Amino acid sequence: CGIVGYLGVRPATPVLVEGLHRLEYRGYDSAGVAVVQDGDIVVTKTAGRVQDLRDKLTDNPATVGIAHTRWATHGEPSDRNAHPHLDAAGRVAVVHNGIIENAEQLRAQLTADGVVFVSETDTEVLAHLVAREDAATLEDAVRAALRGVEGTYGLVVLDRSRPGELVVARNGSPIVLGIGDGEMFIASDVAALVHHTQQVVFLDDGELATVTAEGFRTSTVEARRTSKTPTTVEHAADDYELGGHTDFMRKEMAEQPEAIARALRGRLDERFATAHLGGLGLDPMALRAVKRVKFLGCGSAYYAGQMGAALVEELARIPADAEPASEFRYRNPVVDPDALYVAVSQSGETIDTLAAVQELRRKGGRVIGAVNVVGSAIARECGSGVFLHAGPEVSVASTKALTNMTVSFAMLALLLGRVRDLSAAAGARIVTGLRALPGQVERVLADDAEIARIAKRYAHARHMFFLGRVSGWPVAREGAQKLKEISYIHAEAYQAAELKHGPLALVDADMPSVVIVPADDLVAKNIGTIEQVKARGGPVIAITNADLPDGLADEVIRVPRGEPELDPILLTIPLQLLAYHTASVLGRDIDKPRNLAKSVTVE
Ligand code: G6P
Repeated sequence: CGIVGYLGVRPATPVLVEGLHRLEYRGYDSAGVAVVQDGDIVVTKTAGRVQDLRDKLTDNPATVGIAHTRWATHGEPSDRNAHPHLDAAGRVAVVHNGIIENAEQLRAQLTADGVVFVSETDTEVLAHLVAREDAATLEDAVRAALRGVEGTYGLVVLDRSRPGELVVARNGSPIVLGIGDGEMFIASDVAALVHHTQQVVFLDDGELATVTAEGFRTSTVEARRTSKTPTTVEHAADDYELGGHTDFMRKEMAEQPEAIARALRGRLDERFATAHLGGLGLDPMALRAVKRVKFLGCGSAYYAGQMGAALVEELARIPADAEPASEFRYRNPVVDPDALYVAVSQSGETIDTLAAVQELRRKGGRVIGAVNVVGSAIARECGSGVFLHAGPEVSVASTKALTNMTVSFAMLALLLGRVRDLSAAAGARIVTGLRALPGQVERVLADDAEIARIAKRYAHARHMFFLGRVSGWPVAREGAQKLKEISYIHAEAYQAAELKHGPLALVDADMPSVVIVPADDLVAKNIGTIEQVKARGGPVIAITNADLPDGLADEVIRVPRGEPELDPILLTIPLQLLAYHTASVLGRDIDKPRNLAKSVTVE
């Protein structure tokens, strides 16, 4: 979900709607705006996209307002459930990200007191709670209301009797203030602010702020004053623009060579054939003491973690694995004090990953972050790690961030290997391999037209298999995920050798298989897999850097041959393009696939 607030000199509505538009990738099933006009709160909201909201809005001179774009958790996407939410008297309006865990209980208490609810959301509870408080200031009312609230929130409150201020609060869901000249901006993500100001203040968990056009004052939920130093955001406004591309996914795929080069900059050491990752905060002794590595993340970040685990085992010979952060946090994990845990997240906000980090820290686990967004919750909670330097990623389907995750894990694996058994020669080979990646990715991207042709040929399939073994397995999983999320074609990833133990029964002429064939010791096995599929009449698209017999597969997408350990990075790129072009043939909304959101800050 996305939050925007504005106080200042200009009409608020256009600023709010523009901000929402920039945050739309974070949730896009309904949207709304509240402003104060002639002493009343005027709310406009609608199910659908920000454009639908824009169509409903009329000119309004109000210079203060709040707005929201939603990804539904409690209650279906509808006009009624869209934010902002009001109290019964229409005095207080609230926009909120996160989940109020005791909402049902609070709702029952309020209902017993005669409050009539108009929506099914947990947020409406907040509006009623704030309105009921009889406090000297709005900040005090919000503070008192939050005392009884359990759960996560990033919220903004507007009170019609105090139109000169907005009160914000944060617990587990980001709130950032943008400092202007005689005007202040509020958002859940800097993406909504960078067009107006690069001077920002990130609120911490448990913090509240009263914001006026002239500035802000922060304090804790316990009413202790806090002091904040503004930071200058490094991204320019252009990073959030399409810059001539048809959509963000296309732009972000094209940016990969440059993004990889940024991730590598200053971190590779030819002389000692190793990598320097200064942010890890681990000296060689500590690195040598690591007995196990575990990567935790959600969605594509989890698959990147799986690629990372393979790299660590391969280069450092340390047992390593990956697990969805959501599973880890709920299964009462045994935390190994000798393990290094790596929390992987583009946004640095995914609540399940953040919760896994907190659980680890509670239990004495050593956890580092692999995060793209500097200053994000996971980056701050971990305190050390490796920043991905992919630049802002807007498309819901992750491309350059995922690539930079794997590139960063290759450097981590190299470093862990070089303080152990990995020879200087092998280390040098990896350094050279990493240096070659930007150019190699460029070559894969140049194959765009051919991949588009293949995508068109298979775009009308209802189901697809993605098959890979060992290093090709996480590649297959990520490929299936990409296709599912943006084309809505059912795609299932399978370990190639497992195919014959059941799923082969599904293969027929209408069920294409994408087979990942790295040029490793298992080429013959993968050729066997392709033959099994072909023998059942199944079409095969091979993604490979090996030499395959002519005529074996129906389509072959070749990637350059680099260092074998780094193959998964290159083999993933054509799968992005395949998913992209398939979705494009089917006319899908590529950057904003249905039902999904870029950052999932709810459980
Ligand atoms: C969402 C997105 C996925 C992403 C996952 C983890 O589900 O739709 O594309 O991989 O969250 O996001 P993170 O920001 O933690 O990498």
